[in-house]
Order: sequence, then structure tokens, then C-alpha cells
Amino acid sequence: MYDSGKVITGLLAFAVLVTLPFWYTAAGGKGGFRPEPKLAPGLEGKKCVESKAFMRASHMDLLNLWRDEVVRQDLRVHFSPDGRAFEKSLTNTCLKCHSNTGEFCDRCHNYVGVQPYCWDCHMEKKLKGAE
Ligand code: HEC
Ligand code: HEC
Ligand code: HEC
Repeated sequence: MYDSGKVITGLLAFAVLVTLPFWYTAAGGKGGFRPEPKLAPGLEGKKCVESKAFMRASHMDLLNLWRDEVVRQDLRVHFSPDGRAFEKSLTNTCLKCHSNTGEFCDRCHNYVGVQPYCWDCHMEKKLKGAE
């Protein structure tokens, strides 16, 4: 039999280890440079389509889900936890609020070295504020 307690402890320890740099900076540690996504003017005090913590961790999954639901099932409306309705659209919804993709999306993405290819199709004009 496996000792499931040990296995789980091991998995947890591993998860903490690989995400340590993230927790460290998230806790405000003086770990040197960290990305500081800048909200577009007028967004302070407003709310995203899901909680900030959820968005920070899972916005890529949410976008994939939206795409699949729109393209495969024609389900086009997302309800936020507080009941607001949003069109499931990268350009018409996310980028309506986050219009400064260069200072917001790209600041994080450059930091972690991801380059979403979504813009190839979803944006016709050049990104505003991109470095
Ligand atoms: C090859 C072109 C192409 C690329 C690259 C692409 N998409 Fe799309 N995407 C489409 C098309 C076409 C639709 C269908 C539009 C519709 O039916 O309204 C769509 C629909 C979507 C939708 C739902 C409708 C909307 O207006 O946003 C989401 C969300 C979405 N894509 C997200 C993404 C994300 C996130 C990426 C990058 C990881 C991405 N797409 C990359 C072509 C593309
Ligand atoms: C109604 C305007 C609005 C829409 C639409 C919106 N956001 Fe947000 N977003 C915000 C605001 C305001 C915040 C600041 C955090 C909060 O919700 O308190 C935020 C936070 C975030 C964060 C976390 C930033 C951080 O500092 O951790 C990410 C990532 C994000 N949004 C991505 C997206 C994506 C992707 C979409 C589309 C699926 C989207 N947002 C749609 C307004 C919006
Ligand atoms: C708080 C930091 C942060 C902000 C702000 C942010 N992202 Fe991300 N994003 C990430 C991280 C980190 C990853 C990589 C996650 C991974 O590799 O699993 C990522 C990955 C993605 C991916 C998947 C790319 C891939 O190749 O796997 C998409 C699509 C995406 N982000 C879209 C957006 C959009 C659109 C915005 C702005 C509206 C945005 N993100 C804002 C941190 C952020």
C-alpha cells in the first residue's frame, strides 16, 4: 500500500517549491523585479469578470473555455459571481476594459516569457502601449 499521507505531503511540498518564487513576490518579498501590471485609466475600484485571485491564476483557462463555448456551443454570455453579464469575447470584453494590453497583459507575459499568439487573429491594429 502507498502511504497516501506521505505522498500528499510530498506533492504539496513540490507544489510549494515550484511556485515559491511566485508566493515570495506575491507576499511582497523584496525578491527584486516583479511584474506590475498597470490597470487602464478608470479601472481602479472596478471589478473583473471573476475575482482578482481567480483571474490572476486562471485567466488563460477562462479564455480557452470561453472560446470553446462560443465556437462549439454558441454559448456567448458569462455571468460573474456578482451577477453581471459579459459577452464571452477577448476583444469586445477583456480588451474593452484592459485596453492598455502593453502595460497590463504584456508586463506579466514578458516577465514569465509567454507570448500568447491570440493577437494574430484577434487584434487588427497594433497594440497600444506595447514596448
Ligand atoms: C487562427 C486565428 C485565431 C487565433 C490564433 C486565435 N483565435 Fe480565438 N477565435 C478565432 C475565430 C475565427 C473565432 C470565432 C469568432 C466567433 O465565432 O465569434 C475565435 C473565437 C474566440 C473566442 C470567443 C469569441 C470572441 O470574440 O472572442 C475567444 C474567447 C477566443 N477566440 C480566444 C482566443 C485566445 C485566448 C487565443 C490565444 C490563446 C486565440 N483565441 C487565438 C480565431 C483565432
Ligand atoms: C469590466 C471591466 C473588466 C473586464 C471586462 C475584464 N477585466 Fe480583468 N480586471 C479588471 C479590473 C478592474 C481588475 C483589477 C482587479 C479586480 O478585479 O479587483 C482586473 C484584473 C485582472 C487580472 C489580474 C491582474 C492582477 O494584477 O493580478 C487579469 C489577469 C485580468 N483582469 C484579465 C482579464 C481577462 C483575460 C479578461 C477577459 C476574459 C478580463 N480581465 C476582463 C477589469 C476587467
Ligand atoms: C498578473 C499577471 C498577468 C496578467 C495581468 C495577464 N496575464 Fe496572461 N498569463 C500570465 C501568466 C503567468 C501566464 C502563463 C501561465 C502558464 O504558463 O501556465 C499567462 C498566460 C496567458 C495565456 C496563455 C498563453 C499560452 O501560450 O499558454 C493567455 C491567452 C493570456 N495569458 C492572456 C492574457 C490577456 C489577454 C491578458 C490581458 C487582458 C493577460 N493575459 C494578462 C500572467 C498574466
